[in-house]
Amino acid sequence: MITVYWVYPDGSEHKASVEEGVNLMEAAMANDIESIYGECGGSMACATCHVEVDESCGIKAGEPFAMENEMLDMVESGRTPTSRLSCQLVASPELDGIRLKVAW
Ligand code: FES
Repeated sequence: MITVYWVYPDGSEHKASVEEGVNLMEAAMANDIESIYGECGGSMACATCHVEVDESCGIKAGEPFAMENEMLDMVESGRTPTSRLSCQLVASPELDGIRLKVAW
């Protein structure tokens, strides 16, 4: 299990334990995180699982994949340099403690 934090615009956060191997869109859905919808089920076709990785926690999630990169350009709230589709982030020890900023 790893610990994941979802952080809302007002600074409030939701902390959850996530089993390794589970993608962080599915983890968000399981934890009723607002504004994460995962409409395409994780096939990189909707961008409704957009998050911004808060690298101030010391954890980097890496660069988006090519197709993910194209989808991120369509994110309604606007992408940032650390934007990722959370369906493409898989819980692993390297991501333990990761902080993901989400919109409302
Ligand atoms: S769930 Fe659709 S792009 Fe991530």
